[in-house]
Amino acid sequence: MLKNLFRASTTIKDVPVAEVKDVDLTHIPQHVAIIMDGNGRWAKAQGKPRTYGHSAGAKTLKTIVRFADKLGVKVLSAYAFSTENWKRPITEVNFIMELLSRYLTSEIQDFKDNNVQVRFMGSREGLPPVVNAKMNHAIEETKNNTGIVLNLAVNYGGQAEIITAVKKIVQDAKLGALSPEDINNSVFENYLYSRNLPPPDLLIRPGGDFRISNFMLWQIAYAEIWTTETYWPAFTQEMFLEAIKDFQRRDRRYGGLNAGK
Ligand code: FPP
Repeated sequence: MLKNLFRASTTIKDVPVAEVKDVDLTHIPQHVAIIMDGNGRWAKAQGKPRTYGHSAGAKTLKTIVRFADKLGVKVLSAYAFSTENWKRPITEVNFIMELLSRYLTSEIQDFKDNNVQVRFMGSREGLPPVVNAKMNHAIEETKNNTGIVLNLAVNYGGQAEIITAVKKIVQDAKLGALSPEDINNSVFENYLYSRNLPPPDLLIRPGGDFRISNFMLWQIAYAEIWTTETYWPAFTQEMFLEAIKDFQRRDRRYGGLNAGK
């Protein structure tokens, strides 16, 4: 039953890039971040257990990574498990860990075939050893890939990330490797899990809530936000395109003024 668990859905029409209308392929967000919300509610609406929604959510992720890559997105960050998700029933936590573990095994060849580089954000502490090992294996096996970066947030919290960075900065300052006057945005960013990645241009949140939920707090300072009521397992390539088209209409000022205003 689990063999084809992560096969990209065949019910979602594959939209060839050549047929993508009204999208400026020269103005694709470099980095898209996604809060994959609504798995549980999607499953419940069908009378299924919440875990069924997580499995379906993993399939959606596969479809969207592939599509984002075709469109020219360079980095896709996805929130798979937050530092707060440990509060869920142990059966659900265990299921997500097992799902992640299976995903990293079943997808590794696909990542290699499609030149996907896998990275992770989050604390490794408290993760099951098998999950840690598979994460390391996925990093090692894909580190020389030059296509889209799939940046999975696992045991991740934006506040915890910032505290971890501050602790390391203080340690380095104590050791004399860094002086406080030298700390600026780019130095600070080097201490975050996302070091060497550009900040997200677009943050997508399915599931109908308008929250950041502790995701990439530092990095999304100037991200454009796009939300939909649709639950993550039902999120489609067409919706991803809608988000990108909407992004392309936004006026990004970064606190300044645009020419002529
Ligand atoms: C939010 O939906 C989703 C999660 C907490 C887990 C996300 C996990 C996956 C998409 C699958 C695992 C990922 C990989 C890469 C294998 P929710 O459970 O909060 O849904 P709800 O808001 O409807 O309760």
